[in-house]
Amino acid sequence: MDPQIEHLETMTGQQYEALYQISEWLNKNNESKSLMNDALDLVIGQLKAERGLFVRFQDPVQESEIIAARNIDHADIEDLSQFSSGLLEKLHQEKQPYLFHDVGSDPDLSHFESVKIHQIKSVIGVPIKLNREDWGAIIVDSTKDRALFTDQSLRFLSFFANLLSLSLDRIFKIESLSDENQRLLNQIQSTQPLPDIVGKSAAMQKVASMIHRVAQTDATVLLLGESGTGKDLAARAIHQLSKRKNGPFLAQFCGAIPDSLLSSELFGHKRGAFSGAVQDKKGLFEITSGGTFFLDEIGDISVSLQSKLLRVLQNKEIIRLGDTQVRTVDVRMIVATNKDLFAMVKEEQFREDLYYRLNVFPITLPALRERREDIAALTVHFMQKYDRPEVQLMPATLRKLERYEWPGNVRELENILQRALILCDGDQLQPDHIILQQEQNQSNDRTLKEIEQSVLKERLKQFNNNRTATAESLGVSVRWVQMRIKELKPA
Ligand SMILES: Nc1ncnc2c1ncn2[C@@H]1O[C@H](COP(=O)(O)OP(=O)(O)O)[C@@H](O)[C@H]1O
Ligand SMILES: [Mg+2]
Repeated sequence: MDPQIEHLETMTGQQYEALYQISEWLNKNNESKSLMNDALDLVIGQLKAERGLFVRFQDPVQESEIIAARNIDHADIEDLSQFSSGLLEKLHQEKQPYLFHDVGSDPDLSHFESVKIHQIKSVIGVPIKLNREDWGAIIVDSTKDRALFTDQSLRFLSFFANLLSLSLDRIFKIESLSDENQRLLNQIQSTQPLPDIVGKSAAMQKVASMIHRVAQTDATVLLLGESGTGKDLAARAIHQLSKRKNGPFLAQFCGAIPDSLLSSELFGHKRGAFSGAVQDKKGLFEITSGGTFFLDEIGDISVSLQSKLLRVLQNKEIIRLGDTQVRTVDVRMIVATNKDLFAMVKEEQFREDLYYRLNVFPITLPALRERREDIAALTVHFMQKYDRPEVQLMPATLRKLERYEWPGNVRELENILQRALILCDGDQLQPDHIILQQEQNQSNDRTLKEIEQSVLKERLKQFNNNRTATAESLGVSVRWVQMRIKELKPA
């Protein structure tokens, strides 16, 4: 008979009951931390101990990770140094359960400084194996009673450790699948092969060279530029060109998301941190460890989130909502905004220290109207993207595209071309196929005079009130422009 089974007979009814309850919990729960606290509380209660410690071994043992550490009042103990490192070390080396009474006078143990400091009187410890490896340990101790534990307690604890390792195995598999799942979900939008960053203009060449250079480092990158200029694209390019390219790339849009929700997404939370937090949850920063995190619209985050972010940037540390444990994360940060962060600093809407942390390597994506020479190449690129490589871009069409202001930048160009290609049945893209925002907004019941005036106003704005350029672009005389301007102004 298995020696453990043999010992079952010597367990009390209460201990049976407790083990039964624990096995039920372990079976039902798919999440480690909170479950471990409950289980440890129950063990402490059963053994009438004062404290319990459940660790995952790390090298060196003194730096082992606390999975759960509880006292008799069901409160967390945060600090591993509250326990005897000597006793933990012993378990790690000898890989055998132990039970000690009167620890202080045991010559084997009394030399442990930590035993003296913490005045530990009796203790039992059991190693936990996972897939045949020494994974961690459980220690339960008392500072009051010299002869608290019996062989029966040790057996109870060993049973518990065995049950635990079975479900830990399952829980860790589920957790790693769930992390993977979150990563994949977040990546769905960005899994398409990285499109080329199109553009040979001097401004874009400069951007491309900065992207290549900064990608080789782990520096935080601040992407600036109007909406639709390619900030997302640049962030993904930096990741793919970096040594983290095989790690995850996750993105979070920060605009118009309630602060608490965003906080819990990014940093995770502990069970009970707020109503609805039914279980512990890892945040996106934790899940991105080893990869790159892209925070889009950083100008929109609250001041309280700004301080938490500063901590991530400075110390690579996060704390889940409602938790006290500090965790380290290994993420490279890329942030983007179309706001003037420095102006926000002056208005005290954005933390100055965070601003300087973010501003290590700013890259400004130029607006499309500042690099009209890229419009032709971009248009051809989008025709290919939308599966119409045979379509010819007619010179008049290109002129129309190049003249427009593009307030929505490349995104707007892409949308307008997508629509144009639907309208275009033949293989020539004609000016009529291009329906610009300005044209859409014009209602059809305006008089010719009104249309004339609105076109003139737009052109004047486009050419900074330069009448000669405006006249040239409209194909009229400067005098015509001057006369219409007079009409614009009420006499
Ligand atoms: N230089 C570029 N070459 C090719 N496509 C681009 C370029 N810049 C932007 N785009 C495309 O335009 C759209 C908007 O770009 P995005 O990166 O989302 O802009 P932003 O994040 O600055 O608002 C995307 O579909 C993107 O692929
Ligand atoms: Mg974007």
